[in-house]
Amino acid sequence: MPTTFQSKVAEGSKVSSKFVYVVASIAALSGLLFGYDTGVISGALDFMRNQFHLSPEGEGMVVSGVLFGATFSSMVSGRLTDRFGRKKVIFATAVLFGIGSLVTACAPSVELLVAGRVVLGLAIGVASFAAPLYISEMSPPANRGALVALNQLAITMGILLSYLVDYMFTESGNWHMMVALGAVPAALLGVGIVFLPESPRWLILNDKESLAQSVLKRIRDSQDVGAELDEIKAALSEEKGDWREFFAPHLRTALVVGIGLGMFQQFTGINTVIYYAPKIYEAAGMTSSSVKILATAGVGAVNVFMTIVSLFLIDRLGRRPLLIIGNIGMGVSLAALAGSFLLHAGSEQLKIVGIASTFIYVAFFAISLGPVFWIMIAEIYPLRIRGFAMSFATALSWLSNMIVSFSFPVLLDRFGAGATFAIYTLITLASLVFCWRIVPETKGLSLEQIERQERSGALH
Ligand code: BGC
Repeated sequence: MPTTFQSKVAEGSKVSSKFVYVVASIAALSGLLFGYDTGVISGALDFMRNQFHLSPEGEGMVVSGVLFGATFSSMVSGRLTDRFGRKKVIFATAVLFGIGSLVTACAPSVELLVAGRVVLGLAIGVASFAAPLYISEMSPPANRGALVALNQLAITMGILLSYLVDYMFTESGNWHMMVALGAVPAALLGVGIVFLPESPRWLILNDKESLAQSVLKRIRDSQDVGAELDEIKAALSEEKGDWREFFAPHLRTALVVGIGLGMFQQFTGINTVIYYAPKIYEAAGMTSSSVKILATAGVGAVNVFMTIVSLFLIDRLGRRPLLIIGNIGMGVSLAALAGSFLLHAGSEQLKIVGIASTFIYVAFFAISLGPVFWIMIAEIYPLRIRGFAMSFATALSWLSNMIVSFSFPVLLDRFGAGATFAIYTLITLASLVFCWRIVPETKGLSLEQIERQERSGALH
């Protein structure tokens, strides 16, 4: 590839039109829905249990229906974004989000309640990879990390919003409203996405070059998009165009990184805190409901705030340093939590360490494994198989989420909080080694440069 060509792309990449921020913000409504619909159940569950006389198994099904749906849909839907385009698939998820919210909110029976939650899960599974994929392909290299991280920010805001809505309707016990309000962002996403253009990369892949060119002109602050267009075409001409390329030797690192980050994002235990914070605080000896609710809201707020911080760091420091710093911080706070449960059970100190270490742990997750997993899987796979490959990594991540969410209460019950968090500490140590030894840096490179470096073995 001639250097002048590369430098031209790099030049053009520094400038993005304001429109690309509008694009990313609308697409990130998918993230808001992902966060809202996974978080809302924490406050709604008690009331559902009372109305439907849910057994523990029934409760498990209502909670994990979403995780089951998300694992299933991300597993089977990978080729949809490659085949039908990013935009149509996101529109379809908006419709599913709307249906899922309304079915759940109006469910007259446990069966329909679970069905509604599964439909929401189906939407979440697809949206969780389709939105980062779309945003990544619309963004210029210089701030692609931050723009994709907007989706993670929206996830954290969705979680926090769901805690607040739950709190608002707790007195009236109106769980129907808690769930139904999810239909509002779904409608906004559905309407908003109609007005956005299709990804120029997907358009080129489907021989719609002149359309791709006009989209590029809208999302770059320049009329001269020829170099970027040529770069995308050149990268495509190197690709085999078949899902088998996913397992080709030059993509071995990309394969391992997608799977590894997806699994470590979950097995380092984030959702033991996001879904079960009140349970952890209870195990630490806190009895007051208001303290537990407040501390849980604090977790949500720290998550949002530190994700905002990550937006400013991700394209400056890079993905790798953030992963390394984040894993160290997560490991230390988990070790402190495990140590206090083991050594100071029943003490006042345990309550303070319990709250402090969950806050610090979430803060470090929010600048590392939280956003970086979604950013990197949207960067490291070739265009023709990007949707398929991303959905594969995403499905493993949802499966891991399901395993952690199911096993956490059992581990807590059987081995106690100290031993349980010691296990997550060890997994975080493994995650640190993985990020340090295997994950490459992609900051500042165009998606096509990343692909070229993978082919030549130069991506480190
Ligand atoms: C993870 C979710 C998690 C959320 C917390 C996301 O990146 O995939 O499992 O609940 O971050 O912010």
